[in-house]
Amino acid sequence: MRLVLVGPPGAGKGTQAGHLVKRYGLAHIATGDIFRANVQSGTELGRMASSYMAAGELVPDEVVVRMVVEALASEGFVLDGFPRTIPQALALEKELEATQRPLTAVLALTLDEEIAVKRLAGRRACSSCGRITNVELDPPRTEGTCDSCGGRLVRRDDDDEVTVRRRLEVYQESTEPLLTFYAERGLLRLVDADGSEEEVTERLVAALAGSR
Ligand code: AP5
Repeated sequence: MRLVLVGPPGAGKGTQAGHLVKRYGLAHIATGDIFRANVQSGTELGRMASSYMAAGELVPDEVVVRMVVEALASEGFVLDGFPRTIPQALALEKELEATQRPLTAVLALTLDEEIAVKRLAGRRACSSCGRITNVELDPPRTEGTCDSCGGRLVRRDDDDEVTVRRRLEVYQESTEPLLTFYAERGLLRLVDADGSEEEVTERLVAALAGSR
């Protein structure tokens, strides 16, 4: 299966991609994660991307497209956070046509903006194992500490409310037009992201029923 997960910041793309990867044995290609790893290790790509990310703006299309095309080697994958603009979607379509690997489906997570803001205010990632958690909605057993490995929980730099609001605006301006783009291609499946993690996973699985 070749899937795209799209949705506003905080909709649960990363969380649900993890479940789909395990369930269907797919590669997980998350552009935000690739950028954050590059920022952390101080590469040229990371230095270039960091100012855009900190402001809640998109990294320029040509940079993202080049990076994703290089990562697209697997037969089955979940793209998480890409494409985010029409030019990115056209570049992906061209690349997949050239390699005769059409998309199976585009899963669009829908969520009320205020719920997304609340989720992101409480999001923390483990600095050791990378596990994503939420200190408001599902507090860890020991404050500031990962329940899985004991690592330190950290907040993402772009999760302050001002930047989150800007990221939501950017989503509406640049990414929402993709819903029409993929509906016209018969690939779009809308999935309500308001519910427990397990409920949302089951909705995604139901939306993929019959797909291979
Ligand atoms: P990216 O990392 O992709 O961020 P995003 O799209 O803003 O999405 P998030 O990671 O914030 O949210 P998510 O939907 O994955 O939610 P999560 O599962 O973590 O991109 C960051 C930046 O990189 C961009 O702003 C841009 O600058 C750049 N970038 C990346 N891709 C790019 C591209 N293609 N082009 C240009 N620039 C690009 O969940 C959020 C929280 O909610 C967590 O705490 C989680 O535990 C909780 N949660 C999840 N599901 C549930 C549930 N069902 N119920 C309750 N809580 C839940």
